[in-house]
Order: sequence, then structure tokens, then C-alpha cells
Amino acid sequence: MELPFAESYKIKMVEPVRRSTREEREIWIKEASYNVFKLRSDQVYIDLLTDSGTGAMSDRQWSAMMLGDESYAGATSYFNLKESITTVMGFPYFIPTHQGRAAENVLFSALVKEGDVVPGNSHFDTTKGHIEFRRAKAIDCTIDEAFHTELIHPFKGNIDLNKLEAVLKQYPKEKIPMIIVTVTCNSSGGQPVSMQNLREVKALADRYGIPVCFDSARFAENAYFIKMREEGYAGKTIKEIVKEMYSYADMATMSAKKDGIVNMGGFIAMNSEEIFRKATVFNIMFEGYITYGGMSGRDMNALAVGLMESTEFDYLETRIKQVEYLGNRLIEFGIPIQRPVGGHAVFIDASRFLTKVPREQFIAWVLTIELYLEAGIRGVEIGTLLADRDPETRENRYPALEMIRLAIPRRVYTNNHMDVIAVAMKNVWDRRDQISTGYRIRYEAPIMRHFTVEMEKI
Ligand code: F0G
Repeated sequence: MELPFAESYKIKMVEPVRRSTREEREIWIKEASYNVFKLRSDQVYIDLLTDSGTGAMSDRQWSAMMLGDESYAGATSYFNLKESITTVMGFPYFIPTHQGRAAENVLFSALVKEGDVVPGNSHFDTTKGHIEFRRAKAIDCTIDEAFHTELIHPFKGNIDLNKLEAVLKQYPKEKIPMIIVTVTCNSSGGQPVSMQNLREVKALADRYGIPVCFDSARFAENAYFIKMREEGYAGKTIKEIVKEMYSYADMATMSAKKDGIVNMGGFIAMNSEEIFRKATVFNIMFEGYITYGGMSGRDMNALAVGLMESTEFDYLETRIKQVEYLGNRLIEFGIPIQRPVGGHAVFIDASRFLTKVPREQFIAWVLTIELYLEAGIRGVEIGTLLADRDPETRENRYPALEMIRLAIPRRVYTNNHMDVIAVAMKNVWDRRDQISTGYRIRYEAPIMRHFTVEMEKI
């Protein structure tokens, strides 16, 4: 008999989680103005709000923390991290930052100016935010297949080369500071980009003289998918694949809270000394001196180890199989999800789940609250509230997809937890016909409203 699959680690430290009753949750979610961001974490049983900064560090990472060097300048921890980044990604220059959006802030301060355009594959919200904040424009060039949840395509994060070339033709070189490739592409469902696509994007970018930047938050998961799905890579190690991926980039921004497997941290890495020097000025201004940039020595040490661990096949196999396990259980129950299942999360297609709720009443938001009420599970809406209002007309922007994201923290939950999530979702699915009304907005901030919005039941 073939041995079944099991996690590539055993557990040394545990943290209790608490179940609650439906009555308690009814009160808590009302007190939270029907916004799961406003819940206290101890009111949540299984927390799938994000996979960012929520992972469990290994014994090696914890022991590296003990050796953290807290010197202001030239800390050994900085050099440990530098060596790890050069080993894994190949870049000779790097700057630490406190998280991913800080890396974007520093790099874009150096490179993006008013009137610029930045093409890419479904830029993450903060990335887009930092581009638009500078009165530049993010142009989405993701392949159309990404927007059909049922359609199976191995690399739904890919950039459509025709769309990209149209942008490169339309604008002069001086107006395009970079092309951003997000690996894996969070906004299109944690979907990977193929090596072939990375290679072709780089070749096209070179022809037009435009640098390529990888938004690297989940770069290791991307490499896993290349190994499993792309011809010619099955026999390569994850580290070899990652190295090749970055041979097609000029620079990278990183939220280390994902594939760095740390609770806080980020960086920018690059080949160009000139860009390094330019960015350094902003780093000192916004983040800290160049050898710590918003991170403590302890954190840099933990990240140096985390990058080596996240690029091990066994770790990635455990991680991605768990996400897939949850996805498959939901598919068995007939629940509509984004397919194939992505690297860090399962995305549920809320418009096909709750067909009676009008979109003006925030379909995916309704489903998020229903899941919380059902079992204390916290997911997040990727729908109309997140999409915000049109900056000019102030009308709600209705996105092509109304989704709820169930992001799985790294090395935190077991498949028993996945079973609870799947069954909770099925229970909501079984009573979906009784759910026909949603919420209206009581208070909203002018931008990024979903974090603080206050809602009331209709
Ligand atoms: N890029 C991508 C692709 C991301 O997913 C994120 C964060 C960032 C950049 C920004 O990094 O949070 O460290 O400042 N994504 C989190 C999420 C918040 O829940 O998906 P950060």
C-alpha cells in the first residue's frame, strides 16, 4: 500500500484556539459593525483573513533570532540576510524595509513619477495604491483566462504579451519606469506565472529598454507550480527554478511576511547599483539606515533562514497540498471556487454562491459574515467593498468577480481545521436559498474603505 502524505514537520510549540457559540458570534459581529476586520482575534476560531505575517516560524528561525545583532550600522544580521537573498535570488544589492508596501514606497519614490504608467499582472492593492498616489497609472495586462473562475489554465497569473506590447508601444520609454510581475498573482487568485512567460516578458521589456520588477511576496510558491506544471522543470530543485526566475528580473520588491515565513519584514533587491543608490536615500528617510531599514537584527536573521526554508520542496509540498486539500473538499461539495486552486488561498465565487443577494448589497461581504456566523471562521471579501468607489464619479466600482478569500497561514493549521472550514462552508451552501438580503454602508473612509467600513443589516 502506498503511504499517505503527511506534513514535513512535527509540532514543538502550540497556541490554543477557542471555539464559540453562534449566539456569541451574533453579538460580536454586530459589535464589530459587521466588519470582520473589527473582530478581536480571540473571537475567531480559524483565522483565514490573510497568510501575511501569520505563519509559524521554525526552531531554526527562532534560534537565529537569539543571535540577532542589533547594531545600528553594519549588523551581522544584515549580512546574513544579504547572503541569503543573493543565494536565493541572485541580486547583488538589497535594502531591508519593514514590510512589502514599504519596499514599494521606497522603490517607487526613486523611480515612479506623475504621468507614468506601470504595466503588470493585476497589481496588488498596495502596489497600485503606491503607483496611483504618485499620480501614475497601473495598467493590468493579465491574460483574459484569469477572469473565468471555472476555466482550467496552469498559469493564470501570466501576462498577455500583446496587451503588454500595446502599452510599451503607446507610451514613450521615459514614461514606463518598470513592468511589475507579481509572482504568484494574489489578485487573480494566487495564480502562478510560467517560466516561459517570465522569459518572454523580459525579452519584450529588453527590446523596449524597460526594467522588470517582480513583486515577490509568494515567489517560492510560484516556483513550486513551475516545477509541477511546466515542461522541463520536474527534475529541477526549487532553488534552481527560483534562480532562473530571477534571471529574468532587474529588481524585486518583497513582502517577507509571506514566503519569507516571518511575522514582519520586507526588502527591495536589485542588480543596478544606480537604483540601489537612489532608493537608499528614500530608505533612510522613510524606513531606517540602510543596514536595518525598519527591521530589527533578530527579524533579519529569522528572514535569512526563512528564505532558505521556503525554497525547500518538502515545505512547499506540505503547504500547497493543504490549500489544495481544502479546495478539493469544497469542490466535492459543489461549491464554486476559482480553479485551479492557487498557492496561498482558496477563492470562493460569491456571485455564483449567493445568487439572490443584489450586488448593491455586497454579495461577497454577506458570504464572509455568514461563514463567520456559521463557525467562527474569518475570511476576507475580495469584492465591491474592496474595489472602492470610482475616484471621479464616486459610484461603487463593481468588480468582475465577487469573491471571498480563505488564505491559509503557513505551518499553522492542520487538515482537521481544513475539514471544519469545508463543512462550515457546506452548511452555508445548503441554506444559500434562504440568504437574499445583505448590508448597507453606515460609515466609510474615502479610500481603502473595507478595513474600517461600518455596515448595517438591510
Ligand atoms: N504584494 C503582494 C502580492 C501582496 O500580496 C502584498 C500583501 C503586498 C505586496 C504588500 O505587502 O502587506 O507586507 O505590506 N498582501 C497581504 C494579503 C496584505 O493579505 O494578501 P505588505
